[in-house]
Amino acid sequence: MTSTQSENGRMADPNYLATRSRSVPRRMILGPGPSSASPRVLRAMSQPIIGYLDPAFFEILEDVQSMLSRVFLTSQTTMTVAGAGSAGMEAGLSSLLERGDKAIICVNGFFCERQILMCERLGVEVVRVDAEYGRTVDPQLLEDALKANPDTKLVSAIHAETSAGVLQDIATLSGLAHDHGALFMTDVVTSLAGTSVEFDAWEVDYAYGGSQKCLAAPPGISPVAVSDRALEHVRNRKTLPSSWYLDLSLIANYWGPDHVHHHTTPVSMIYGLREALVLVEEEGLETRWLRHEKVAGALRAGLAALGLDSPVDPEHRLNQLTVVTLPEGVDDAELRSALLNEYSIEVGRGLGQFAGKVIRVGLMGESCVPANVFALLNALERILPRLGYEVPQGEAVAAASMTLADDPSPVAVV
Ligand SMILES: Cc1ncc(COP(=O)(O)O)c(C=O)c1O
Repeated sequence: MTSTQSENGRMADPNYLATRSRSVPRRMILGPGPSSASPRVLRAMSQPIIGYLDPAFFEILEDVQSMLSRVFLTSQTTMTVAGAGSAGMEAGLSSLLERGDKAIICVNGFFCERQILMCERLGVEVVRVDAEYGRTVDPQLLEDALKANPDTKLVSAIHAETSAGVLQDIATLSGLAHDHGALFMTDVVTSLAGTSVEFDAWEVDYAYGGSQKCLAAPPGISPVAVSDRALEHVRNRKTLPSSWYLDLSLIANYWGPDHVHHHTTPVSMIYGLREALVLVEEEGLETRWLRHEKVAGALRAGLAALGLDSPVDPEHRLNQLTVVTLPEGVDDAELRSALLNEYSIEVGRGLGQFAGKVIRVGLMGESCVPANVFALLNALERILPRLGYEVPQGEAVAAASMTLADDPSPVAVV
């Protein structure tokens, strides 16, 4: 028997597996998410479990709500949906829309398509307003669609489309929806705590985020903000939302002063989110936005020195996620596996219209530091010539560091 066979035999024995722990490789995660979680967040999550109806836990919920209000810049309801960002997405669509309702979905990437898939399951009639990947949705097209569909109940547009690396002007789209009597919802999974999100000023009715990106917590919880108007709408709809678990009015009743029992809250995730929000307060929200801007600027300078470009309209490039066009002949899978296997660096692949044509580099939360940019540029400089694309040696890191040299202050992570 070979040593591998005997190892496989032992692995099949559940008693053997139960006594083994498994360590995971140390990675630099520069993909579209998750990003690295702060060690302080991970420590906070290891606190003892207490009940989700314990008054001591309610104090933690209050802390989370007040800090979320400051991140969303809102005086209206904030809370969390227990689940990934997609749970926040589905909670919004299933609570704000009823079977037979009409929704306009602004589509400029993969996650907008996911919203449409969800709407179809809900029996909602969808009107698409499309933009090419790498572009924002034209407000005039939204206005035309609203005029042609005066019975629209909800307009949805994604603030930061991670698949396309695009940031949109949400205030304008939201204003148009309201002018035509529709509610407005947006996705801030990739922008929350990394770029300005102004829930009240932009008159958004529902926004959902993710814990795993600029907030630097593990994946699994979706912080959300809900307007008074949207909550009233959910409470007065003709039919109950099809999902009990994702019913925003029931979740709001638990987070409200009466703490009405709903499902078992993921208490450790809430401890982690609380600590993540404390980190945002310590750094300062605006400084954090600036850190994302500066570090992304350094990456762009380094990529330009390598002769690499982006298909995204320069005016609307997202700081958290840089889409990089692959040079002719460079294979996307080969490049990504060399980065992972030789340098332990994860980057993302292209999705939808960008599949096979780009890589996507995420710089979010704890992962958004200059050292990661330098390591990636250095690795690209080594790998690309092997894949048939010659690059100048020694210039990329220098170009990146030059952009940071004048004012390094905002790039420190607390
Ligand atoms: C813009 C956007 N929306 C929604 C999601 C879905 O979030 P999750 O994977 O946490 O469900 C993602 C995930 O990357 C995203 O980038």
